[in-house]
Amino acid sequence: MFAKIKSEKIVESSFMDRENKKVALVTGCTGGLGTAICKKLYKDGYMVVGNYLTHSKGEAWSIAMQEQGFEIPIYQCDITDYDKVGEMIKLIETEVGGIDILVNNAAITKDGQFRKMTYERWDLVLKTNLYSVFNCTRHVINQMVERQYGRIINISSVNAQRGQFGQVNYAAAKAGVHGFTKTLAVEVANKGITVNTISPGYIATDMVMSIAEDVRRKIIESIPVGRLGGTEEIAYLVSFLASEESSFITGANYAINGGQHMY
Ligand code: CAA
Repeated sequence: MFAKIKSEKIVESSFMDRENKKVALVTGCTGGLGTAICKKLYKDGYMVVGNYLTHSKGEAWSIAMQEQGFEIPIYQCDITDYDKVGEMIKLIETEVGGIDILVNNAAITKDGQFRKMTYERWDLVLKTNLYSVFNCTRHVINQMVERQYGRIINISSVNAQRGQFGQVNYAAAKAGVHGFTKTLAVEVANKGITVNTISPGYIATDMVMSIAEDVRRKIIESIPVGRLGGTEEIAYLVSFLASEESSFITGANYAINGGQHMY
């Protein structure tokens, strides 16, 4: 079951402020990228709602956000579960409002070379990083079509655009994400809905910091800009794609990787 954290107070006050605010749902809000995206969209004036998986992380995140002045209701839900996602979206629609902007951000890695990769590692990464995009988008799309407005922003990866030792599962899922983007973009282009992909390179998140230090050092050496990206640098691009001004951009895939991969 999902539950919302400290939502009564936050939802109530946010709801009162809601007037004409567009609602943005960010999945995987407690991670580095998710947090930066939530904060940026909040500062942009959206009514931001987060989704998270682990209770302890959600609780700590919620408290930290409140202390920093961000009123962001968050909803616990395992986004690999299609029906649970449906319940979560319904609850958000009832408590906060229809979702205008969906940022499919939640993702995990389970790296290891293919010869040793277990079915479980393959399956979990595909479900978390690709099926979740279907699950969340499928449950918001018809409402967006009804309102003739929507912004769907899918977070992929540089490693979907090139090969990366140890990431067949991750690269397959993230490449699938952009295939999804392109086709859905075509299907809803005349309904006021845009669908785009952002493909970050190596960003200073826990995910990247958990790579062994010697491996990470070599990765940084391969980035022409000479450093890891900042989470806010991705959030700025999300902010632009979420805006009304980006309405002619759809089906695009934005590389933001410090020059590590160009095509
Ligand atoms: N290219 C070629 N060979 C490599 C290699 C590489 N990049 N990395 C490791 N190897 C080789 C080693 O030399 C070694 O070879 P030998 O067996 O001949 O000695 C072998 O692979 C290592 O074997 P291991 O048993 O240690 O391999 P493993 O199955 O445990 O996998 C790994 C190692 C976990 C994949 C490790 O190499 C690694 O962490 N690589 C980085 C993966 C990476 O970049 N992940 C990105 C995470 S962040 C993210 O995904 C965000 C994003 O979107 C960018």
